Formats: sequence, C-alpha cells, structure tokens
Amino acid sequence: MMKKWIALSMTAAMVLSMGMISSAEDASFNTVAEGKLTIGTSPDFAPYEFYHIDENGTPQLAGFDIALAQRIADDLGLELKVVPIDFGGILTELQSGNIDLGISGFSPTPERAETFDFSDLYYTGGQAFCVAMENKDAFSSYEDFAGLSVGAQTGSIQYGLAEENTPDANIVGLTKVTDIVMELINGTLDGAFIEKDVALQYAKNYPDLCVLWDVEFDSEGSAIALKKGNEGLLDAVNGVIAQALEDGSMGEYIEEAQALASDEENTYEGMLDANGEVVQEAETE
Ligand code: ARG
Repeated sequence: MMKKWIALSMTAAMVLSMGMISSAEDASFNTVAEGKLTIGTSPDFAPYEFYHIDENGTPQLAGFDIALAQRIADDLGLELKVVPIDFGGILTELQSGNIDLGISGFSPTPERAETFDFSDLYYTGGQAFCVAMENKDAFSSYEDFAGLSVGAQTGSIQYGLAEENTPDANIVGLTKVTDIVMELINGTLDGAFIEKDVALQYAKNYPDLCVLWDVEFDSEGSAIALKKGNEGLLDAVNGVIAQALEDGSMGEYIEEAQALASDEENTYEGMLDANGEVVQEAETE
C-alpha cells in the first residue's frame, strides 16, 4: 500500500517537474548573442549547404542544413544568424564561444565527442572515393594511388580516411570540397575522399566527376555540434530534430535542397564575406 503511494506521488512529481522544464525551456539555455541562434557552416557541401543564385543574381545560402537551422531557430523563438566558416575552423569557433551550433554535415566521431557534444543524427549517409570520369577504368585498388595526389577536406573525417586508405599517396588537404571537385576534374588531383551523397550531388552538375567506390566508415550519419556543457540547448535541438524527422519536414528540406543544388545554371561555388559580398579567394593547399 505504502509503496504504491510513494510510486504514485513520485510519478506525479516527475510529471510536474517535466512540465516545468518544458515551459521554462527558453530560459534554460543561453546563446552567444541574445535572441539569436548563431550557427557556423561551410557552404561547399551540396545538398547540405551551398550557394544558390536567386532571381536578382545574388548568391544565397541554401541546403537542408540551413533549412534545419532555420527550423530550430523558429521553434526556439530565436533569430537565425548563419556564419560561413571554412570547415576546418568551425569547431574552433564553437570552442571559442563565437557560435552556438556547428551545422555542417558533422560526423559525430568518438574523438570529436571527447571535446564536443553532438545532437542526435538528422541524416544518414556514407563515404565515397572519387576520380575524374576519364580515369574511371584506370584504377582498381588504393595501391594504384601510391605516389599520386589524393585530396580531402582539411579537418574532415575524409582526411583521416585518406591517411588510412592511401598512406602512400601524396595527401592534399583543401579548405573546400568544391575545390576538390574542380581539381579532380582538371587533373591536379588523381583521387579524393568525399561524402557519398555530396559527391553524387556534384556529379550531377559536373559529369566529369566519377564516384568510383564506397568507403567504409564507422560514424555514419550527420549531427549538430555544440560546445560541451550546454545541456539545455542540446535538449532543445534534439527536440526539434525529432519533430522535423517525424512530421516529414526533414524529408522536404532534403528534397528542396537537392532540387536547388541541381539547378546548375544558378549555383555559386565561391565564398561570401560577412556582408554577403563575393570573395575572390586564392587557391589554397
Ligand atoms: N562529415 C565530414 C566530417 O564531419 C565532412 C563534413 C564537411 N562539411 C562541409 N560542410 N564541408 O568531417
């Protein structure tokens, strides 16, 4: 009898406190700029994040990561601010407290999870090894790349895949995935490790790009990165991800992003500065 009563009253207390948490959700976390959700992303990664040129000829950030970021901001009652950052610099900006979230197709690896928190997965994808279409039949294994140039994005898990699978190649780190695609096509690079769905997306607009074979990787899927210790924001982000997956909006964001990224006359593969102006970038190694 007694036990049952305790159990009942505990349930009531739990329900009560859960109600309190959710009604006080907005107040249970801070963001780096009040009233804003500041996110960092590296827009070289269609259909996740890229530039699409609008009717006025202006490059605009697009992609399903951007749509998800907008949804999170809307649901949390915050104004979205997107900061374009080269992929290799996003986690540093997060650690320095300059952005709230890294939304850039992040693979939640155990090594990264030692220093950062990750949301639940919002997308599942795999990895691929790519070459130029004209070399499609020239290679049969990674050994063939000994002494050749193999590219991967700086700071990405693909760079690790290159070190692991093509240790005898000349591994070249580039800041942007779009530069890797260009260098494969113009022959500067002989091979490259790229996220599979991203490579397939660019292969639509650049038919000279060939997705040669799949690459195994244990941390498949993408998650949002947060600075450690921001439990309130992590919970809120996971809540929105769960809803966006369940109500079908995530699927719509992905379809919309794929359609925009395939509109090849209107994509922009460069960078914009903080004022949204086109940046003329020098080629980087
Ligand atoms: N998933 C890979 C990683 O986490 C690559 C992500 C690259 N993202 C980008 N927007 N370029 O390392």
